[in-house]
Amino acid sequence: MLNQLEEIEQAALVALDEVEDEQAMEQWRVANLGRSSPLMAVFDQMRDLPKDERPAIGRRSNEVKQKLEKKHSEKADLINQLALQKSLETERLDVTMPGRPVSLGRLHPITTTMRQIYRIFAEMGFQIYQSRDVETDEYNFQLLNFPPHHPAREMQDSFYIAGHYEEDNPVLLRTHTSPGQIHKMREHSAINPKDPPEIRIILPGMCYRHEQISARAESQFTQVEGLAVGKQITFSDLKGTLSDFNKRMFGQNVRSRFRASHFPFTEPSAEVDIECFVCGGEGCPVCKRTGWLEILGCGMVHPIVLQNGGYDPNIYTGFAFGMGPERITMLRHRVEDIRYFWANDVRFLEQF
Ligand code: PHE
Repeated sequence: MLNQLEEIEQAALVALDEVEDEQAMEQWRVANLGRSSPLMAVFDQMRDLPKDERPAIGRRSNEVKQKLEKKHSEKADLINQLALQKSLETERLDVTMPGRPVSLGRLHPITTTMRQIYRIFAEMGFQIYQSRDVETDEYNFQLLNFPPHHPAREMQDSFYIAGHYEEDNPVLLRTHTSPGQIHKMREHSAINPKDPPEIRIILPGMCYRHEQISARAESQFTQVEGLAVGKQITFSDLKGTLSDFNKRMFGQNVRSRFRASHFPFTEPSAEVDIECFVCGGEGCPVCKRTGWLEILGCGMVHPIVLQNGGYDPNIYTGFAFGMGPERITMLRHRVEDIRYFWANDVRFLEQF
């Protein structure tokens, strides 16, 4: 049996010399030190030996086992070292190389402007109301008092949804956020038709027009609509609210100007300008030498529109306004072409 142990040891050491990689190393370990290795078989046979032979065989078996284990760990270390050396040579780790810059995402400039508008109106007690992008002709035009042949209703000016064409009430993408006025008023007046609650909301969202696309017109753009309905609301409230908004948005010293205008759903209607914040009213290229910048459209809610929303125009009055965050952002940041906003060019977006 001692001879057998000698042979086991010799054979294992010879085999170990041939081991060159991690995989062969593991195979060697299983074959020479594993459960079913010849060495383990010797340990198993020990209990069948005569008592006086056991100590010598036992001692030798342990010696062989310890030796093989030691040789195994030495060789394993060597193999690891060689592998590391090789990978350092072939993979050329250059620890002086600068890291890749981590690029942080940020808010779209229109989102930033919208959030400023929300915050200012929130301070004045306006809540945000989301209204749908896909509308019917009825909500987008008819209930807002557009006459039947108003130019905005022409096929060329709006995106109509194919397959949903009803002769007198086709489905279309909203051309402005104003249909939200009717939705909100109807929602409120349905709750309490006799005495519907007052309203103070802003309605933000994307609008769509079949425009000739240019530096000043996109087929898709955002609007923020405002609507206040109550029993004592006057044109002074409209002027006060919007003048104050302009100050909070563009600076405490900025002056506002209201110019008579026309919208089918407001009467009287106005357009609001602010004093040019680039030249302070002197006249410059940004304000086209007029000293004023047009910011939004507004007016007192037309009695027919109040009626359509379920509010009795003999009891209720209200004001509404609509502004374009793209235009405001263009003025503030001197962006010269509206098409940059939704073109998704990171070189533009990274500037904000
Ligand atoms: N809906 C109008 C537009 O798109 C803006 C507006 C809203 C005007 C509310 C008056 C009142 O141009």
